[in-house]
Amino acid sequence: MKWYVVPGIELTGQPFIKKIKLSGKGIIIIGYQNNLYALGSACPHAGAELSGGWCKEGKIICPFHRYSYDLKTGKGSPGQNDYVDSYPVEMRAGEVYVGIDTLWDRVFAIK
Ligand code: FES
Repeated sequence: MKWYVVPGIELTGQPFIKKIKLSGKGIIIIGYQNNLYALGSACPHAGAELSGGWCKEGKIICPFHRYSYDLKTGKGSPGQNDYVDSYPVEMRAGEVYVGIDTLWDRVFAIK
């Protein structure tokens, strides 16, 4: 796994959703109830931008059709049978880092 620093995020205690691009992937960094989360930015239902959504009860709500996805796991709510990619996110010395599997991580995970 490779870790990327995400510049420009200040944690103020206020909720936020920020879209970034890392390693060719659209990712949203979410600050919600004093925790950080990182999810893919495209809704798996029909491709809407989740960065235009909002958080409620530990889930992000898609602005298009209101599907919802768990902030920790990316798993869709019951009945949706879908998920959005989720990424590990950490604070280190005041900076936000997001971990993304490398090609080798994925190759070895298949074995
Ligand atoms: S595009 Fe997100 S719920 Fe339909």
